[in-house]
Amino acid sequence: MRPKVTISKKFEFSASHRYWRDDWTEEKNNAAFGLCVSPYGHGHNYDLHVTVSGHIHPQTGMIINLSKLKEIVNEIVDQFDHKYLNLDTPWFKEVIPTTENIAVVLFDLIDEKLKPLSDIFLKHIRLYERSDLYADVWKD
Ligand code: NI
Repeated sequence: MRPKVTISKKFEFSASHRYWRDDWTEEKNNAAFGLCVSPYGHGHNYDLHVTVSGHIHPQTGMIINLSKLKEIVNEIVDQFDHKYLNLDTPWFKEVIPTTENIAVVLFDLIDEKLKPLSDIFLKHIRLYERSDLYADVWKD
């Protein structure tokens, strides 16, 4: 059996967000979310690391054509880039756009797009909100 290999590619986007629950008091929001409750939001430069798994094609030496991967992921990332995630995207109306939640949404969107490609699968993503804070998402 051929070994399984992963290949990872980094993508970048900038977006702003706010942490707030309408069903909580201001005090409770402040206690849970601190500075992130600021009413006009604040921004981050996110780094998204996408790792796909599969077999190396003997002719190309690659798991996936990188331009294909870039095309698929950029189409998704473009929907986050320079957006106020709470209002400008459909995913965070009810869900707080924490690093964890953004990463889960990104994982599901990328996974859905990669599914038709039968010979590879999305192994893992890592979303950095800053260099010292990131979320990992994968499915076993
Ligand atoms: Ni933030």
